[in-house]
Amino acid sequence: MNDILRSRLTSGMDKDVAEFISSIDVDRWIFESDIFVNKAHVTMLCEQNIISKEDCLSILRALDTIKKGGFASLDATLEDVHVAIESKVIELAGEAGSRMHTAISRNDEVATCIRIALREELLEMMRELIALRKVLLNMADKHTSTVMPGFTHLQHAQPTTFAHHLIAHADAFKRDFNRATDAYARVNLCPLGAGAFASTGFSINRERTAQLLGFESLIENSMDAVSTRDFAIECISAFANTMVDLSRIAEEFILWSTPEFDFIELDDGYASTSSIMPQKKNPDALELIRARASSVGGALQSVLSICKALPYSYNRDLQEVTPHLINAISTLRSSLRITTGAIDTAQIKSDRMAAATHVGFITATELADTVVRETNVPFRTAYQIVGTLARSGQKTTLDEIDVVSKKVIGKKLSELGLTQSSLDKALDPEQNIQIRGIRGGPAPKETIRMIKDRMKQISSDMKSLDQKVGKINAALKQLNAPVREK
Ligand code: ARG
Repeated sequence: MNDILRSRLTSGMDKDVAEFISSIDVDRWIFESDIFVNKAHVTMLCEQNIISKEDCLSILRALDTIKKGGFASLDATLEDVHVAIESKVIELAGEAGSRMHTAISRNDEVATCIRIALREELLEMMRELIALRKVLLNMADKHTSTVMPGFTHLQHAQPTTFAHHLIAHADAFKRDFNRATDAYARVNLCPLGAGAFASTGFSINRERTAQLLGFESLIENSMDAVSTRDFAIECISAFANTMVDLSRIAEEFILWSTPEFDFIELDDGYASTSSIMPQKKNPDALELIRARASSVGGALQSVLSICKALPYSYNRDLQEVTPHLINAISTLRSSLRITTGAIDTAQIKSDRMAAATHVGFITATELADTVVRETNVPFRTAYQIVGTLARSGQKTTLDEIDVVSKKVIGKKLSELGLTQSSLDKALDPEQNIQIRGIRGGPAPKETIRMIKDRMKQISSDMKSLDQKVGKINAALKQLNAPVREK
């Protein structure tokens, strides 16, 4: 038996069972992290005089060799990456290698590895979110005067601008960024040193391994450290939220690329064709983002269910969380990149957007508001007059309105002070937008202000992201330094 962990048993594991319980394929994701974890651990063991300097150096050298050989150099028939790396270290470093697993369990090891791999992905994902926000805001900057219909219930509702619409999406992605930042703070905590769950009688230094691995602090309670996957739930929840946001803008671009809307045209690089209909230009990539939002939602549900009612501390069930986490983050990250590119390269048909604001009596709200301001009738009365007017489509003359108001309230609005010029203004989509300059509104002066403000947020988000990356890189650099004999 070449399995270093089977001394308790008299036979090898049934092959089918071994495959069934193995996480080795999924563990590719934490291969590098596990090298780091082992390096930090043995460095600390040496500093604490738990293993000798020579043994430490032999182990570090073996770990470097394994890292160079890559994941493929491991024995893939073994249960997981941890036992595969340890076996290889023993193979390469002999008795010294057999000392590596002193005062560490796979339970604290795997939890630490997952957090290291995940925080890396989180940082990359945050960078991708920033890129998307930038694309949206740069596009918004070009379209602060591009009028378009705003929709409620997918019906023409009120005029807005394309900039206003894009900033709305950018703001949702800013909140996604903040959620990722919040989750990051709880991911970047070190469970190492918890052992199987009850810590260890060796005088290890947990703060030191945490520091070597670039963690902000510890998951202190050793039982908590190996038992919890709440950070995974929190991250997948943030990913699912972001996927939902992506699916909504993807859906809009899909709709807007139809001849019915014709607001945008996707770049050919983001379009597919049909095998039978020669004329087709299909938005398949965006459709898949729409669908994959559901898959990430499914991952969240799976992880919640795996962890629910799971007794403390470690149970093998927890292994089943990891693939969901990996799939969720990888789906999210590719979806972020595709969405960013699809939007960035899309052709925007401003004329078509503007033309659509003359369909569906989209200025009716402003007309009712104007009636209130000019004649002082109550809003609900003005609403009833304009609503009655709307039954027969958009009416534009004072006479037409007077006929209706006479019927509804027994008086002509012209007699109460409504003029043709205020009516014309109310019915002009661009004027509608100009006067909506209150905070958060679509008036260009306000959208220009919002864009500037968001661009500043992006710079500060970028800075804090770079700081996080810098801290981790500085820590891991020590562990990556070539092993020097002394
Ligand atoms: N491969 C396992 C996981 O992903 C880690 C090993 C813990 N196994 C154990 N029998 N205690 O969770």
